Amino acid sequence: MDPAALDLMLKGLPKIHDPNLLLGYSQHDDCAVYRLPSGEQIVQTVDFFTPVVDDPFDFGAIAAANSLSDVYAMNARPLFALNICCFPKSQSAEVWHEVLRGGADKAKEAGIGIAGGHTVDDEEPKYGLVVTGLVEAGRYWANAGAKVGDELVLTKAIGTGLITTLLKSGEISLSDARETIQQMKQLNRSAAEVLSRYDVHSCTDITGFGLLGHAWEMAEASGVGLELSLSKIPKITAAKELAKTGKFPGGTRANRSYLSSHISIPGSLDESLLWLCFDAQTSGGLLASIPSDQVDSVVRELRAAGLPNTSNIGRVTAGTIITIVD
Ligand code: CO
Ligand code: CO
Repeated sequence: MDPAALDLMLKGLPKIHDPNLLLGYSQHDDCAVYRLPSGEQIVQTVDFFTPVVDDPFDFGAIAAANSLSDVYAMNARPLFALNICCFPKSQSAEVWHEVLRGGADKAKEAGIGIAGGHTVDDEEPKYGLVVTGLVEAGRYWANAGAKVGDELVLTKAIGTGLITTLLKSGEISLSDARETIQQMKQLNRSAAEVLSRYDVHSCTDITGFGLLGHAWEMAEASGVGLELSLSKIPKITAAKELAKTGKFPGGTRANRSYLSSHISIPGSLDESLLWLCFDAQTSGGLLASIPSDQVDSVVRELRAAGLPNTSNIGRVTAGTIITIVD
């Protein structure tokens, strides 16, 4: 939802005082980290949304990959998941069976099973997962922790909000959206596996608040500024041209207006490409803050691990704002 509306909704809710809750929502992290009586630490997350593509199997797979993403972004290993299904009665059971099959297929790829779930009759369909994972004690990644001098690595290209909006309105064909659909279906598992071999100081996944929204959460939680290079940010091929149409989804516009005071943008930059940086993403990549002497090796390994768009997109600076450079 609109990040400004979310702030209002959460404001003044009771604070949780539980010494075993190691990470809650105070710094906008997408997973809770909880210490069990045994000392082991679990992470838990929930995500569900309306269809981003027409094909029910693909929708199920994308929603599941997106839900699992928060677990990978925390350096955790998923253990099991539960389905959340809001399905209209008007649609046939076969369609929903395909959505669940897509979800189950992705869960299998992640090495887990879906152990149950809950269904509700709902005019507007929605699907997603609750995922529980396990993280090595004290080794979870969060929004906080980025250090001045670190460099920033992004593992997937941006532009999925724009492309899925144009696909829905029939302005582009399914083949124009193929790269986007493939990328949204891709798990962040191999990205997390590579990153876990390095000294990740902070990590998040890029979803509804867009690259800049999630980068801002990282900057704010870490008490640092960021400098991002517009030309180095990987963009979905079709999105570079289609950004000129300006037909971005409402979420993208809400992200830009919410973030405007935190971001410094020189007037010389390409406005349509800038919009892509605010674009609300589905099942986007991981954004990780890494010591600069490790970054070349990280990028090389991530590309070799099936993430060819991985790029070093900028660095962590002193200060409290995000600066965009060419
Ligand atoms: Co999430
Ligand atoms: Co997330």
